[in-house]
Amino acid sequence: MIEKTPFGKTGNGQQIDCFRLSNSRGMSVDVLNLGCVIQSIIVPDRHGTPIDVVMGYDTVQEYESDDAYLGALIGRWANRISGAEFELDGRKYPLAANDGVNHLHGGPGGFHRHVWRSEPESGRVIFSRTAPDGEEGYPGNLEVRATYALTDDNELILTYEAVCDLDTIVNLTNHSYFNLSGEGDMLTHELTLAADYFSEVDEALIPTGKLLPVAGGPFDFRRTKAIGRDIDAKDPQLVKGKGYDHNFVLNRERGGLPFAMAASPATGLTLSIDTTLPGVQFYSGNALSHRRGKGGRLIGPCSGFCLETQLFPDSINQDSDSRPILKKGQNYYQTTVYKFTA
Ligand code: BGC
Repeated sequence: MIEKTPFGKTGNGQQIDCFRLSNSRGMSVDVLNLGCVIQSIIVPDRHGTPIDVVMGYDTVQEYESDDAYLGALIGRWANRISGAEFELDGRKYPLAANDGVNHLHGGPGGFHRHVWRSEPESGRVIFSRTAPDGEEGYPGNLEVRATYALTDDNELILTYEAVCDLDTIVNLTNHSYFNLSGEGDMLTHELTLAADYFSEVDEALIPTGKLLPVAGGPFDFRRTKAIGRDIDAKDPQLVKGKGYDHNFVLNRERGGLPFAMAASPATGLTLSIDTTLPGVQFYSGNALSHRRGKGGRLIGPCSGFCLETQLFPDSINQDSDSRPILKKGQNYYQTTVYKFTA
């Protein structure tokens, strides 16, 4: 089922709508045509009590001034690009330096700031927009489609498609902060990640190009452990991230299992995630400053975690053998599935 209701107006008078996807199991997902934001995900817990498992706001104005990308679709390139510049087909493309000297999450006018076209259909909504040549510095007119679908198996399926009239780079993700307890910090959540390696970063969180093994250290989530168990370890990488804020390299062989599972001991809710993408930024919400979200709910450091499926950060500047170029006319297609069980 899908239901459309007005959510508010942007500062320049554009209408923002909320699309509620709901299924036969009592799960519902509210999405906005502003930044394709996932505003809420409500799932019944082990007692049947509805829990809202993502962070968000009640008003358009709060989304317009948000600095933490709550629930938003990130593009044209999610995560960081070093020196806010890359080279492609012999040309340099300067981008906004909005994270020190580096570029983050598509720039200040990235995809999260735009009002998207929307087409609700039964059980899904299709968002689309044309990102013009030169928008935030990126080359080519990019036609983008993001389809958000909810199944009766409590799966939220996000599918991203794009095609460009010039060679370009594209890396789309969703920046939801999950808290399967509904509120409080999420350090007691149990997490499993099918990743043998993660990307080492420098002080500015730019990958050094080296992959470090997780084995035996605080980054080892191959066996389930609480997110908070090792988060304060005196590990140089954790110190740089002020917690977890790293790209994990997803094991290709996962025996048919999702790459991530997170569970709240308080509600019994479990989130499993799978994806066609090779990496995930596991961000433990370290830099979230204190604020109020939906219904006055307190948001602060570690009140939610992000698992941002992605191509590897800064790969356009890193590895000359596998630069992530979307060739002119080529189709970008990626999908990520979030499944909830109680
Ligand atoms: C990044 C963090 C950044 C945050 C901004 C995350 O995706 O990895 O470093 O602070 O987004 O909200």
